[in-house]
Amino acid sequence: MTPKVNCAACSHKFWRSEDVMTETGYFTEANSAEIVASRNAGAKDARLAEVMSAITRHLHAAVKEIEPTQDEWFEAIQFLTKVGHTCNDWRQEFILLSDVMGVSMLVDAINNRKPSGASESTVLGPFHVEDAPELPMGSDICLDQKGEPMLVKGRILDTEGNPIDAAKIDVWQANDEGFYDVQQKGLQPEFNLRGVFRTEADGTYHFKGVKPKFYPIPDDGPVGQMLAKLGRHPFRPAHLHYILEADGFETLITHIFDPDDPYIHSDAVFGVKESLLAKFELIEDPDRLKEAGFDAPYYEVVHDFVLAPSK
Ligand code: BEZ
Ligand code: FE
Repeated sequence: MTPKVNCAACSHKFWRSEDVMTETGYFTEANSAEIVASRNAGAKDARLAEVMSAITRHLHAAVKEIEPTQDEWFEAIQFLTKVGHTCNDWRQEFILLSDVMGVSMLVDAINNRKPSGASESTVLGPFHVEDAPELPMGSDICLDQKGEPMLVKGRILDTEGNPIDAAKIDVWQANDEGFYDVQQKGLQPEFNLRGVFRTEADGTYHFKGVKPKFYPIPDDGPVGQMLAKLGRHPFRPAHLHYILEADGFETLITHIFDPDDPYIHSDAVFGVKESLLAKFELIEDPDRLKEAGFDAPYYEVVHDFVLAPSK
């Protein structure tokens, strides 16, 4: 008979036959995680086995710490079922759940470790659209003249401080009431407050928009109910979204934030980083208004981005 062997992950003994490990013991409260993980020993996909073993270990540890009643466990199952039922072509409640638990930002951080000096990333969010129009530099992305006018300008640089020519800048923002165009179809013009620009040879960019405002993440579903039960608000501080792309550089998905926003220290999705704070300066000086092409006071935001070289 084939000899008994030890599982690599635990002290359990198995019969090995034709490369399939068969456990000899039975499931107990004490050995629960090990016995489940060892059942995957014959997995064809080593990464899947590793992932499932880590998830099993941590999930069983959480259940052992929490000691849920049967009713509580069923409530958890019902919550996840509702999260699934809330998903459709334009609503992804599981991503929202990952966002409010800080998991989206953690995955983002792990996958976007930047060299020193490079601009930091943050979450993409659900409101990006692929086909926003490419606009001449300096264009106003606000198509309905609502909100407080804003001028955004800066440079796209490499980590040595050299300008990046023809970098693609995809920007989008919520309006002054905190809604994206895709949330208010028919109320806001299509592609309102979105645009794609290309930097000049000196790496500069500038465009007009409106001062953004804080807004709630979609909170009419199970994730919003969970936040309310936890005593958490659903708001994101005012921000502008950017995707920056240039040949030879890593694509950067990021935001800039208004540091004076009331929710700057409590973003519902943990997206704020100190390096992404930008000053929203109110300009009232008539000469500067004229120079910038405004006939009333406006907010000016100056922010440079530094792209990391491709790996
Ligand atoms: C956003 O900033 O657009 C966003 C990010 C995460 C969840 C919801 C909205
Ligand atoms: Fe946003």
